Amino acid sequence: MGAKERFDLTGKTALVTGGSRGIGKGIAVALAEHGADVAIVYHSATPQAQQVADAIKKLGRKAWIFQQDLAKTTELHALADKVWAEAGKVDVLVNNAGIAYLERFNQIPYEHWRHTMAVNLDAPFFLSQRFAERMIAAGIRGRIINLSSKNGFVAEAGLAHYNATKGGLELLTQSLAIELGVHGITVNTIAPGCIETEIGGEFDIDVDKFLKYYYEHVPLEHRFGKVEECVGAVIYLASSAGSYTTGQHIIMDGGVLAEQVPRMQFMKPYSNTIKQGKQP
Ligand SMILES: NC(=O)c1ccc[n+]([C@@H]2O[C@H](COP(=O)([O-])OP(=O)(O)OC[C@H]3O[C@@H](n4cnc5c(N)ncnc54)[C@H](O)[C@@H]3O)[C@@H](O)[C@H]2O)c1
Repeated sequence: MGAKERFDLTGKTALVTGGSRGIGKGIAVALAEHGADVAIVYHSATPQAQQVADAIKKLGRKAWIFQQDLAKTTELHALADKVWAEAGKVDVLVNNAGIAYLERFNQIPYEHWRHTMAVNLDAPFFLSQRFAERMIAAGIRGRIINLSSKNGFVAEAGLAHYNATKGGLELLTQSLAIELGVHGITVNTIAPGCIETEIGGEFDIDVDKFLKYYYEHVPLEHRFGKVEECVGAVIYLASSAGSYTTGQHIIMDGGVLAEQVPRMQFMKPYSNTIKQGKQP
């Protein structure tokens, strides 16, 4: 297999939830750039969903859009059946849609807890359940890729519900990986740190102070990540390059989780001179 074929998705059909904007949009277009036909599920923004479909078609690929509130979890098996019927099959399922509320643990209302659970954890579960069933019946060695977060590994204050869903998604991913492995279906997560999208845009915080603090604590160039910096991992997991990778997570957080206590900022200014110690 040549270098190009390793990442080629020609003949594959992918479904991306929350594909009308942000990371999901980037993933949908990147999958098409690598040869896949792509269906997207969107919540309500039909013009934006249509724009993504147009971009996919411009690349010479087939595109479908499906309007669905993923919080309506009892409708999701039927959604999967509808997508399968219209697209013919799904080889790659990307559970990308997600939401977050920022509020203190003791102030989380029932509705926000349930809504976060429904979109971030229930929807990936029920969609994976139905699509896996269909992939197995069709003999498709499919791929399931779940959008987790660095918050699936380390908690962030004000996001107890979000953290819980992403931590749950990590273990759900491992559970599916070990049960679906026998069918040749891989299940993995990608776990971004802060990426420039609209999520969290309505959080009630002092944005300038937060950004200053956050940037200080990102080892890689003190910045947010960009959507295009998330999509390569999805292409890897969806293509034959990732065919022996399952039950794993790929964290892309600019090194945030790699650091314990940021002692470096209390040291003297950076010097590029290597101290000459005694050679062994
Ligand atoms: N941007 C980040 O910093 C970041 C960091 C870590 C993880 N993530 C995760 O990446 C994924 C994508 O996030 P994003 O930053 O692109 O966010 P975004 O808010 O830009 O996009 C989220 C998408 O999910 C869809 N969605 C939300 N609720 C829905 C519902 N009930 N039904 C159908 N669709 C629904 C939205 O319509 C939208 O298309 C999410 O799972 C998020 O938790 C994002």
